[in-house]
Amino acid sequence: MAARSIFSAVPQAPPVAVFKLTADFRADSDPRKVNLGVGAYRTDDSQPWVLPVVKKVEQKIANDHSLNHEYLPILGLPEFRSSSSRIALGEDSPAFKDDRVGGVQSLGGTGALRIGAEFLRRWYNGTNNTATPIYISSPSWENHNAVFIDAGFKDIRAYRYWDAAKRGLDLKGLLEDLENAPEHSIFVLHACAHNPTGTDPTQEEWKQIADVMKRRFLFAFFDSAYQGFASGNLDKDAWAVRYFVSQGFELFCAQSFSKNFGLYNERVGNLTDCGKRHLITSARVPPPRWRRIVRTTWSISAVTRSSRSWFATLTLEPTPGVLFRMNGND
Ligand SMILES: Cc1ncc(COP(=O)(O)O)c(C=O)c1O
Repeated sequence: MAARSIFSAVPQAPPVAVFKLTADFRADSDPRKVNLGVGAYRTDDSQPWVLPVVKKVEQKIANDHSLNHEYLPILGLPEFRSSSSRIALGEDSPAFKDDRVGGVQSLGGTGALRIGAEFLRRWYNGTNNTATPIYISSPSWENHNAVFIDAGFKDIRAYRYWDAAKRGLDLKGLLEDLENAPEHSIFVLHACAHNPTGTDPTQEEWKQIADVMKRRFLFAFFDSAYQGFASGNLDKDAWAVRYFVSQGFELFCAQSFSKNFGLYNERVGNLTDCGKRHLITSARVPPPRWRRIVRTTWSISAVTRSSRSWFATLTLEPTPGVLFRMNGND
């Protein structure tokens, strides 16, 4: 008799809806089909499209024989990390002068969220405080809840965001949920181009949100997966994050370059952390703490072709907005 597999009790899991849709799309032979699932750049013929500037840099890299495949520092390519943080916080952010910004190169935006969640679970509001409430917008990107659950958090809650009747932001509900959240709760905030509603607070509304969060000692964990998509301008789309920094918040910002650079399968991301001012030593999260998490998660950050090309792209096109103007989105 064949021995039972040791894994025979592993339960089935439902497919991830958006990837199931892509698989169904591929399998469908109807010539009129249109894929409204994963939001990725496409040509008029529905073929994947690589940004011209990305192609240009890739060619440069291919011809650069000084590059090699040595291991990187654990936290990633230093130029990439600091460029990414500058994209989030702004070139002139006083936070850089005060040395209170840190960055960790990550496997896409998901990797940034995950190591950020790991960090918070280990060292935020006590140690291993799995009871800290995590608030996720209702609705939100489907993976947010799971990332925080898998990092060990036990109390995942929804905050009101979308008013279906008004077809817009439920500001009143959102502010009430902020008011009623236990102090030190963690709020995952979409930096711009909220997924899936596409509705963002106005600057005035962000100010109200920040006011309550400051008063109630709530932690802002920004998820910035679409910087450039809301307005066509990287700086405008970072307004909320930069405003929170200007208000003295300590915060995390998970950055994904999957969408804005069209680098989906290269897994290019960064986690920016910004600490408080006026500390004698550096106010950012101590790098050894991050190294500990990265070392047991993916060991050493990846230098993908694209994280190099992403960094080089900025050197090539020094004004970030240029990239988006080239695409006609500005
Ligand atoms: C809101 C949001 N956050 C994070 C991500 C993850 O990005 P990445 O593919 O870089 O891991 C996505 C991807 O769709 C997203 O929509």
